[in-house]
Amino acid sequence: MRKASASAPGKVILFGEHFVVKGSRSLAVAISLRVKTTVAESRGKIRFYSPLAGLESWIDPVNLEYGDERLAPLARMLEYLRDKYGFNIEPHKVIVESNLPVGAGLGSSASLAASYALAYTAFMGSPLSKDELLDVSYEAEKVAHGNPSGVDNTIAVYGGGLIYKRGVGFERVEVDLPPGYRLLIIDTGVPRNTRSVVEHVLNIASMTWEASEHVYRAADKIIDLALKALRNKDAFLLGTLMNLNQGLLNAVGASSEVIERVVFSLRRSGAVGAKLTGAGWGGSVIALVSEDLVGRVRESLSGMVKSIHDVVIGVDGVSLENH
Ligand code: MEV
Repeated sequence: MRKASASAPGKVILFGEHFVVKGSRSLAVAISLRVKTTVAESRGKIRFYSPLAGLESWIDPVNLEYGDERLAPLARMLEYLRDKYGFNIEPHKVIVESNLPVGAGLGSSASLAASYALAYTAFMGSPLSKDELLDVSYEAEKVAHGNPSGVDNTIAVYGGGLIYKRGVGFERVEVDLPPGYRLLIIDTGVPRNTRSVVEHVLNIASMTWEASEHVYRAADKIIDLALKALRNKDAFLLGTLMNLNQGLLNAVGASSEVIERVVFSLRRSGAVGAKLTGAGWGGSVIALVSEDLVGRVRESLSGMVKSIHDVVIGVDGVSLENH
């Protein structure tokens, strides 16, 4: 049977989410949790199976109507592949496998879009280049999130570590954790909707811009200090900057009671820094933790959160997979 598979990494934003929407820089890294999408021959409709998301539905290959609202971003991406890149949209089936939590602020929608775009175009015999995948996955992200900065799909496509600035693009950076430290990702289990949080934060910014522009500038400045801390392998400075960034995110309306509880519990049990990552209100929190304290930190969160992932950062971007 004709088929093709591709996978793309999730991401964590180490610094700068939300501020990036209005032109400050952000620092994001790909993580070792991936979405794998397989496209295979089928008849009639385009059939989607995503056990993790509890999704089994369809898109009509002729008029691109869909049976589940969650497929709207992918239907738009297929339309774009047809109209801009000249692909025929054939019936096929799509199987999505993932160890990346969905709706947890870890970029699962961008990873799905990038891996599906590569798998489908490879299935059709003309796999797109990375720059083209960046372009088409952004179309899906616009439908999913309203006014996205582009950081999520950029990291899903290119992987590694990136400084991203809206309208300017990205610059690759080597990001290694200080020796003896780990990055934990804590899924609070509270689903969040990126679009609503971004709208709320943008409203606060526009109501208070004369004051809040300084907060956005401070967030941008954190990137320079974070790069310095990473270069010097200075875990204490890096963690302190995460805490500072969390304070700024709270100030502009992206935090929540559940996030603050998790963040303070992490700090109390020994994390050198902790902050929300992604959109906020729920989703995930990241923590920089010295290796010898990982057990204690995990224990302190038991019963409080949905899952804790100890990840490798800076992994490869979207790529074809062998069957
Ligand atoms: C979401 O992962 C990151 C946000 O900064 C939104 C965006 O950049 O589009 C909150």
